[in-house]
Amino acid sequence: MLRVIRQTLLVSLIVITVAVASFHANAADFKREVIYQIVTDRFFDGSAANNNPSQSPGLYDPTKTNWRAYWGGDLQGIQQKMSYLAGLGVTAIWISPPVDNLDANIRDRSNNTTASYHGYQARDFKRIEEHSGDWVAFDNLVSAAHENGIKVIVDFATNHTNQENAGEFGAFYDNGSLVGKYTNDSKGYFNHNQNISNWDDRYQVQYYTLFDLADLNQESATVDEYLKASAKLFQDHGVDGFRLDAAKHVTWGWQYSLVNSIYSYNDSFVFGEWYQGSTSDPLYHDSYKHANKSGMSLLDFPLNTAIRAVFGGNAKFSEIESVLTTEAANFAWDRDLVTFIDNHDMSRFLSVNNNQTRLHQALAFILTQRGIPSIYYGTEQYLVNNTDGGGDPYNRPMMNSFNPSTTAYSLINRLSTLRRNNVAIAYGSHQQRWMNSDVYIYERKFFGNVVLVAINKGSTSAEITGLSTSLPVGIHKDYLSGVLTGTNISVKAGTSGDNQVTTFSLPAGSVSVWQATEISGSPEVGSIGPIVAQPGVRVTIAGKNFGATQGTVKFGTTSAKIISWSTSQIIVTVPDVSSGLFKLTLTNSAGVVSNATQFTVLTAKLIPVTFTVNNASPTQVGDYIFLTGNTVELGNWATTFDGAIGPMLTPNYPNWFLNVSAPAGQTIQFKFIKIAANGAVTWEAGANHSYTVPSSGVGRVTVNWQY
Ligand code: NOJ
Ligand code: NOJ
Repeated sequence: MLRVIRQTLLVSLIVITVAVASFHANAADFKREVIYQIVTDRFFDGSAANNNPSQSPGLYDPTKTNWRAYWGGDLQGIQQKMSYLAGLGVTAIWISPPVDNLDANIRDRSNNTTASYHGYQARDFKRIEEHSGDWVAFDNLVSAAHENGIKVIVDFATNHTNQENAGEFGAFYDNGSLVGKYTNDSKGYFNHNQNISNWDDRYQVQYYTLFDLADLNQESATVDEYLKASAKLFQDHGVDGFRLDAAKHVTWGWQYSLVNSIYSYNDSFVFGEWYQGSTSDPLYHDSYKHANKSGMSLLDFPLNTAIRAVFGGNAKFSEIESVLTTEAANFAWDRDLVTFIDNHDMSRFLSVNNNQTRLHQALAFILTQRGIPSIYYGTEQYLVNNTDGGGDPYNRPMMNSFNPSTTAYSLINRLSTLRRNNVAIAYGSHQQRWMNSDVYIYERKFFGNVVLVAINKGSTSAEITGLSTSLPVGIHKDYLSGVLTGTNISVKAGTSGDNQVTTFSLPAGSVSVWQATEISGSPEVGSIGPIVAQPGVRVTIAGKNFGATQGTVKFGTTSAKIISWSTSQIIVTVPDVSSGLFKLTLTNSAGVVSNATQFTVLTAKLIPVTFTVNNASPTQVGDYIFLTGNTVELGNWATTFDGAIGPMLTPNYPNWFLNVSAPAGQTIQFKFIKIAANGAVTWEAGANHSYTVPSSGVGRVTVNWQY
């Protein structure tokens, strides 16, 4: 009898599973996706016609022995492998910068002759690189991806054009017409400074030159408009997201306005490459302030360091747990961070530790943890080349097999399905349940949805006693069916919501995944995107149990216009409320109110404005000048590091400046303050300054500190 009920339940669960899996999440709801990162030139050659194009002949090596030449991979090739990618279970591809790149071979900093096969030396942000294809090939790729339920993210490098001292000397074009060159820059399209030497200096990282790459001046109205128009062009061609290259090196204030421009134009997911080794990095605080304020996500470099140390080496699991705890406290949405084991800038995992079991564990970890996993192409085929330790360019081999029956391939597929079907992973909270140097058992929970994961990276089995869980009472089978030699567990009723797992032995080198989903319940919000926007911009709210019948969504007490409503995803527009922080809640058709999430309503779309204050109050080491003012964009007169705008920069002490994103067309009131190292605040004297932000383009305002 019991068995019959169980089977009926199982059958209805399978039906629910299928319904959820076929649901296509909006791009602004990205947390359940799994990204696959592709270096286009190194994936698959789909068209021989573009291998040695007439625009830039001689950069192609058909023998694929010169690692710094083009090898033939192209957009057509990715398109042709779409069913392989769909079978892998990835739901988004991030492709290397597709824009037209440098047409010449140049000497890199180590004096190697190199072509721009990787895409990071742009010459025309409105055209597609001729080795990769053209706009038709791009459109065909996007359509094929979308037909397979796969989103497309482009790598977007706004910091620079191409090398300033060789080749094309930074020249860039607008759909074929020359805009400017670094060497003859009368219009000020570039910053002309030396290479960055102090990577912790806020002025240097934003305004100095990154590896000889001609540094674009985004405060130029022409450059600002050009880059934003390029992003819109890609959105018009159907892309779902952007990976912002070198986000730490792009003018931060301007970057807020870029992100705002992307979100205002269409639904999108935006994440930046803010390189940092750990949460102790001197600019770590700036990184999360930037993410929280702009609403863009970041690649999770601190977690990457810990993953490589723990799975690639002998570090203890506490190293990972500590990064998760710190980032959870700092990031408004740690569940949006993009997690990864390796990428095109570091040696592949198998170069660090040539152990496929450990690679499987690391993969299982990112696929069952918070954040959006990004899997570097070829990981599922154990692709690796160890020349010179396997760093750049040897971490970018040609994909050499497309075998759908590797363990990694099926593991990724299986766990990607779980991420779709059990939102505890993507939307839930994290709890460490049992840990020692080699064993890590963690639980993710989103109201009644639970996923419990146990990893033993050690070489001996571990006796697990006293393990508590939110999983319901009963036998729980390993969701991976023993693919990573996992085991089943038995859960008995425990006290105060903590059920007890019967003592069991966790096999050496194994991963087990146990899970349960809630079938009904009250409406629960697990994601919103974007988290910052002005009235009129579309916002996607995702979660569960919203009900099929439309209810209401409120920003504070004001109802938002509903564009679409389904039981797991709602799209609304930001209502016409005054700017500030709002609690966003939804009420289902039966009147049940959801949990609340926080949303920042901007005054208007963002325009980059450069503020300068001359002869500011004297500062000691550790003191900084900040800007504060009367709108949410200017911090609503806040006087703390996180609340005020800054720190400002002082290449010409005691004059300070900062590029800031301000509300278009608004007359703003502002003042400058000094925040001392100990937090003490000194205000400038006199009346507030006043300025009317232009309604488009860029702005500039200079005042003297009032004594
Ligand atoms: C970071 C990219 O990931 C790297 O590959 C590139 O060379 C630099 N940014 C410069 O664009
Ligand atoms: C550290 C810098 O912070 C980062 O931005 C840069 O890409 C690397 N150094 C290059 O080594």
